[in-house]
Amino acid sequence: MSHISELPVERVTIPLLQRWKEEGRRIAMTTAYDAVTARISDPIVDVIFIGDSVGNVCLGFDDTLPVSMAMMNHHLEAVVRTKPRVLLVADMPFLSFHLSPAETIRNAGGFLQRGADAVKLEGGQAYRNSARPDRLRDSCDGPPRPHPWGVKVQGRNSDDALRLLDDAHHLQEAGCFALVLEGIPAELAARATESLRIPTIGIGAGPGCSGQVLVFHDVLGLTEGHRPKFVRAYANGFQLLQEALSRWAADVRNGAFPTPQESCRLPEGLRDTVANWTPSNPT
Ligand code: KIV
Repeated sequence: MSHISELPVERVTIPLLQRWKEEGRRIAMTTAYDAVTARISDPIVDVIFIGDSVGNVCLGFDDTLPVSMAMMNHHLEAVVRTKPRVLLVADMPFLSFHLSPAETIRNAGGFLQRGADAVKLEGGQAYRNSARPDRLRDSCDGPPRPHPWGVKVQGRNSDDALRLLDDAHHLQEAGCFALVLEGIPAELAARATESLRIPTIGIGAGPGCSGQVLVFHDVLGLTEGHRPKFVRAYANGFQLLQEALSRWAADVRNGAFPTPQESCRLPEGLRDTVANWTPSNPT
């Protein structure tokens, strides 16, 4: 029996995530960028994240810097069309929440209008005013340059570690319903998690978080090249898919695909007519 049939099918909401944190039920979150990845993930995980990692994972960019709101909206809409039961979180890309409060609200609101349940913004106290629409101020803080997967571990000295804990609490008080903790020491993530009311979702932040997020393509081994140590691939999807595709290409080349059963036929009465047809002379 497939373990997939035993999975819960209840609609995931923000209060449910909160309840899970209180009950110690860990949250599984992965990325989806289109209808296929959404349909595969929806019955399995709790949260789908339309991440700006679409830039390097799917669109061939070296990092997430070129990812625009238009691109994010395009991918979000594809995921929303599958009507998932999970919570849908859309990632605010580079420069989409740094320029002015009005633009931040327009961009975040546009995600919600398109069917996202929530949005994710990156940053700590420097961005607290962007995180809560009623406290927005004109902020032109220089946004940090996004990285692909060259994740630098944060919070390794006492200033950074304590600032990170402070930031987490400021974001909670600003109204965030959950925090993604990315690339920080496990003890720090665990301390943040136990001291916060809201759930934390870790990536490269150890097992003490309320849940974990990994990029869909990383979990399934669909990405090539260097893998950070926090990524665990549960399949060699790249090789598996290439093997299947190369069997199909070989069948095309040797004539084994398609078979008569995989083809449709003319009605019997038309077969002779078509067989006896000759091209008319072009004039
Ligand atoms: O864009 C992304 O996919 C992320 C991660 C948290 C997986 O930022």
